[in-house]
Amino acid sequence: MSGLEQAPTSALPTGGQGAAGTPWPSGARRRTDGELEVAGVSVSGLAAEHGTPAYVLDEADFRARARAYRTAFEAAFAEVGAGVDVYYAGKALLTVAVARWATQEGLRVDTASGGELAVALRAGVPGTSIGLHGNNKSDAEVLAALDAGVGRLIVDSLVEIERVADLAASRGVTAPVMVRVTTGVHAGGHEYISTAHEDQKFGLAVAPGPDGGTSPALAALEAVVARPELELLGIHSHIGSQILDASGFEAAARVVLQLRADLAARTGVLVGEVDLGGGYGIAYLPGEVPLDPARIAKDVAGTVAEVSDELGTPLPRFSIEPGRAIVGPAGLTLYTVGTVKPVTVSESDADDGGTTFTRLYVSVDGGMSDNIRPALYGADYHAEIVGRESDAGPVLARVVGKHCESGDIVVHQVMLPGDVRAGDLLAVAATGAYGRSMASNYNALTRPPVLAVADGAARVLVRRETVEDLLALDQG
Ligand code: LLP
Repeated sequence: MSGLEQAPTSALPTGGQGAAGTPWPSGARRRTDGELEVAGVSVSGLAAEHGTPAYVLDEADFRARARAYRTAFEAAFAEVGAGVDVYYAGKALLTVAVARWATQEGLRVDTASGGELAVALRAGVPGTSIGLHGNNKSDAEVLAALDAGVGRLIVDSLVEIERVADLAASRGVTAPVMVRVTTGVHAGGHEYISTAHEDQKFGLAVAPGPDGGTSPALAALEAVVARPELELLGIHSHIGSQILDASGFEAAARVVLQLRADLAARTGVLVGEVDLGGGYGIAYLPGEVPLDPARIAKDVAGTVAEVSDELGTPLPRFSIEPGRAIVGPAGLTLYTVGTVKPVTVSESDADDGGTTFTRLYVSVDGGMSDNIRPALYGADYHAEIVGRESDAGPVLARVVGKHCESGDIVVHQVMLPGDVRAGDLLAVAATGAYGRSMASNYNALTRPPVLAVADGAARVLVRRETVEDLLALDQG
């Protein structure tokens, strides 16, 4: 047993795959000398060869999570007599290799722009296995999707329905579409709220219009039925992100299945597919319990079977679009520590007049440009010193980046060994989703590489950006 392993600063397993209660990838473990290995690759070796900051992806972990979602949903929905497809939501992280891993594990790929569509196509994902989302798709994006023969375009407004139909007509093809609806159910965290009307840019409300007339969702579905250039595949609903229980999905499924029955009653068209979106939550901190795909699949399948039975409609084919739950825990970010500065913090307290404590500001060589989530959403992360062991007692630390902005925080609060110092390697857990994909060049920082590790070897999926790359875009 190493000293570090017992220290309250570490949640890294020292053996065994996928220990519960850890936000690290299943291939992550501490060696007895304190060094972190992922899939048998030491982080010091990675840093020496590729530099920091770097995104590190555990390929086997990604594949296992993709498989777990697919097999859990297939089994639970087969139990009630329905089929299901799992689309990997590429917005969480899409590279050519990642798209291939998803496809090889039997997933399809959900894209949200022409750029994501291009990456999926470059990976060789068949067009029929790709979905294209977007509330404001350009004509070029719609045409690229039609030319690639995508399996589904998810339409988001009445004007878009007419536009996609016209573009399909111009190409002499029929466009397969789903209509994105808003069910009034919003989820994220443990609660869900249901409100009748929506004040957001996505989808068409299922709730009746202001005059109590036809719901915008129903009107849109009917508009699709009316255009022969469009094939109405079904109804799409996405209720939120980082959801940790089934109730929101179940509530939304009820609304969507009722809408499907209403459309059938009005038009005689019973759509064959329902997509319940993504949003499956993960553990970001030690001790947090992620959503269990088997549990949620069973709960949702049970609800859709019950509701279809009540409505007297045969079950449609279902699909889901997890992104974060597949790639989030598979990734970590590796940084090098630079400036370490103790800061005295005074907090006023009404009862005893206030307290003073020391917070250690630990600066790393990246920041809000490689992970905007703490600044944008107040998201919490876990970090550890990973290149060595330490017997030093834990101190309260805040990991910050190197940007010209005081909100440039990587980890708001974490216990680190008191001897943390410049040159240390620091890893932040569970950054696989929405880290690289939301990265920027703020302060002209170059975006870090994406490194995949598997079976004791590393390979570069996306190379590090260089200042030359940035200057090449600048036309002077
Ligand atoms: N499908 C649709 C239609 C979506 O809009 C999203 C996420 C997903 C699937 C995938 O959701 P996931 O399973 O990854 O939660 N940037 C934010 C998350 C925004 C997600 C937007 N849509 C974040 O960093 O938390």
